[in-house]
Amino acid sequence: MRITVIGTGYLGATHAACMAELGYEVLGLDIDPEKIATLSQGRTPMYEPGLDPLLEKHVTSGRLRFTTDWAEAGAFGDVHFVCTNTPQRKGEFACDMSYVESAFDLLAPHLRENAVVVGKSTVPVGSAARLAERLAANAPADIADSVELAWNPEFLREGYAVQDTLHPDRLVVGVRAGGRGEAVLRQVYAPMIAEGVPFLVTDYPTAELVKTAANSFLATKISFINAMAEVCEASGADVVQLSAALAYDERIGGKFLGAGLGFGGGCLPKDIRAFMARAGELGADQALTFLREVDSINMRRRSRMVELAREQCGGGFLGRRIAVLGAAFKPNSDDVRDSPALNVAAQIQLQGGQVNVYDPKAMDNARKLFPGLSFAPTALEAAAGAHVVLHLTEWQEFRDLDPAVLGEIVAERRVLDGRNALDPQRWRTAGWTYRALGRPGE
Ligand code: UDX
Repeated sequence: MRITVIGTGYLGATHAACMAELGYEVLGLDIDPEKIATLSQGRTPMYEPGLDPLLEKHVTSGRLRFTTDWAEAGAFGDVHFVCTNTPQRKGEFACDMSYVESAFDLLAPHLRENAVVVGKSTVPVGSAARLAERLAANAPADIADSVELAWNPEFLREGYAVQDTLHPDRLVVGVRAGGRGEAVLRQVYAPMIAEGVPFLVTDYPTAELVKTAANSFLATKISFINAMAEVCEASGADVVQLSAALAYDERIGGKFLGAGLGFGGGCLPKDIRAFMARAGELGADQALTFLREVDSINMRRRSRMVELAREQCGGGFLGRRIAVLGAAFKPNSDDVRDSPALNVAAQIQLQGGQVNVYDPKAMDNARKLFPGLSFAPTALEAAAGAHVVLHLTEWQEFRDLDPAVLGEIVAERRVLDGRNALDPQRWRTAGWTYRALGRPGE
């Protein structure tokens, strides 16, 4: 069986390399020739732990190739995974389906008889049924009846993309009743199924919803604990202790209960907004009004961080140097899409602060997105002369910083921990004023 992967971003590049690892011949396609050139050399255009070695291994062995040619992809694949992105539309909650639609439209005329197209992108519920019709309309007339669509949402986390793809906690497959989708995907994923990964077969809309519902639940869990952080701030309680105590209840669990600056990235924020927009179209908007609150709580954490930083700067940012540790939306990633750290940095700069940002991996992407911000090549250089240090993305490198060493070069020993990831005792012992979201001051 030969596999193509359409769209080679975080999801597609990882999926392509992992399919090759499972033993398939794989062809990746992207419309960006620069990305294809980099991937063809066995390198990824982004930072994703474990992906480069896998990619290099399979590009070298010849099992994995890349192209920009749709005819080549159509001729090559028995199964085509569509991994194009669905970003939020400018000024709207709904997501932009144009990349997915254009991938389907450009691939369809080149499909061979019995080809199976598998959607992996996160799409509004109802899209698969619509895309199946579009596929049938655009495939060559003589084979259109034999082309099958399946929907197979992806649950990988950036930073753990390879591990999550090769060892998923479940495989969800939305298929057409009586079609070949289930049988073909059972074959593709046979090595994982043999390892005991649950293989769940649903209809199209349920498969689409599993993904949006999962991300909405995760976002809700984070905003729940961040709402508790607001109450902790008002009452003098400690959200870190609260979260740890809640986590002992197995019905609640400790994962995604980390209070702090909240969620960002290319998925959670835009997925909950697109979900609300879609529910509105379906006349079910009331069911999801709570997600508006989930979004607002999340955004309020960013303003609260700016407010705390202003307080620490004596009431205003003018003439103050602010070190920002972190630019990626989370550690172990160079992704800066909707990054809470950069949002806070930009707000402070707009209010007159002299901001200096450092991130171990996301500097290039951050510079492109916020060319007006100042960046420093190391954490120490970012902190030099700072009146306050903001810890906004919890990289291990920042946990390992020696507060005594850092204390020698800052103007004032004040640190704000936006991720509740530093050890307050260690920083206070080294003479720092340590403040965090949802925790009492000294
Ligand atoms: C998410 C989903 O986890 C994944 O299943 C889906 O396929 C894509 O979206 P990802 O965006 O890579 O993955 O990041 P994730 O690890 O989920 O973190 C999302 C955001 O939540 C990050 O900004 C992170 O810092 C924040 N977060 C996470 C918290 O603020 N607190 C937590 O306890 C956990």
